[in-house]
Amino acid sequence: MTIAINAITPDFVAEIYDVDLAQLSAEDLHAVKQAFWKYSVLIFPEQKLTPQQHVAFAQQFGPIEMDRVLAAENADPRLGHEFADISNLNREGKIWDKASRQRLYKEGNKLWHTDSSFKYKPGLCSLLYSTKIVPIGGHTEFADQRAAYDALSPAMKQKLDGLIAMHAIEYSRKRTGFMEFEQSEAQRLPPVPQLLVRTIPESGRKSLDIASHIGAIKGMGAAEAEALFQQLLAHVIQRQFVFTHRWRVNDLVMWDNRCTLHRGTDFDDMRFVRDMRRATVGDVANTCEQAGVAVPA
Ligand code: OGA
Ligand code: MN
Repeated sequence: MTIAINAITPDFVAEIYDVDLAQLSAEDLHAVKQAFWKYSVLIFPEQKLTPQQHVAFAQQFGPIEMDRVLAAENADPRLGHEFADISNLNREGKIWDKASRQRLYKEGNKLWHTDSSFKYKPGLCSLLYSTKIVPIGGHTEFADQRAAYDALSPAMKQKLDGLIAMHAIEYSRKRTGFMEFEQSEAQRLPPVPQLLVRTIPESGRKSLDIASHIGAIKGMGAAEAEALFQQLLAHVIQRQFVFTHRWRVNDLVMWDNRCTLHRGTDFDDMRFVRDMRRATVGDVANTCEQAGVAVPA
C-alpha cells in the first residue's frame, strides 16, 4: 500500500495516512521524504510509536542530536538523550512547580523559533510525538519562511543577501526573562553565525532563516539589527504563512527547521498535563559553510 497524502495547503502542510511509521517500507520512506521536502510540515495521525521506533524513523533523516541545552541535572529527567522533553512534568512525572527552572526555560517555546539554530550545526528537522494533550490551547503553530521569503520586495531580498545573524539560546531566553544560565551552559553554547537567507538543497527554494535566537546581525548596530529582526518576524508570521496544528493523541508531527518557524501556544500548564517527546535531527553543516560563505570569526 502506498501512502496517502492529504495536502492541507498546496506546498506547506500535509497529513499522511495509510502508513505505519513503525514499519516503513523503503518505497514508503521514499514517498515520505519526497513529501517532506515539498511541504516541510508533515502530520502523521494515529501512530503507535515506542521511543525506539520514534528514534529509528527520525534517523532516516540524519543523526539525532543528543546534546541537551540545560546541564544534565536540570534537563529532560524522564527521557533518554535522544529526546527533548516537551511536557509540563517534572522528573517524578508530576506537573512541574510554578517557579521551577524547567518551566521558566520552556517559556521560550512560546516564542517563534527554530530548534537548534543556536548550535553551530543547526537542526535539520524535528519530530514531535504526543502522548497526552490538553483540552484548551497547547497548539503548535508553524510559519512558512520560504513563502515569506518569496513575498519580500526585491529591495529587501537584495538587502538580506549574504547577511549573517548571530544565534544563541541565551538571546531567546533573555527575551522571556530567563536569565539564569549556568556558566557551563552559556560557555557550551556561545553565539553562532547563520545566514539570514538560505537555499534548501532538496527543493532549490530560498528561505528566510530567522528565529527568536537571533541577537545580532554582522555589520549592524544592535538597534538596527533588532529592528530588522522584528520587521522580518512580523512579515513571516502574517496569517497567510501560518498553520496551527491542533494536537490529537498519537500524532507525530515533523517539520523542517531550515525553512519554518514554530511556537507553542499557551495552555493552563498548572492544571492540565501535556506530554510530548521530540527527536531532533542535525543538519549537515553550518548554514554559512553549506552556502560556501566565509564563516565570520
Ligand atoms: C518543540 C516546540 C512547541 C509546543 O517541540 O520544539 O517548540 O507546542 N514545541 O510544545
Ligand atoms: Mn521548538
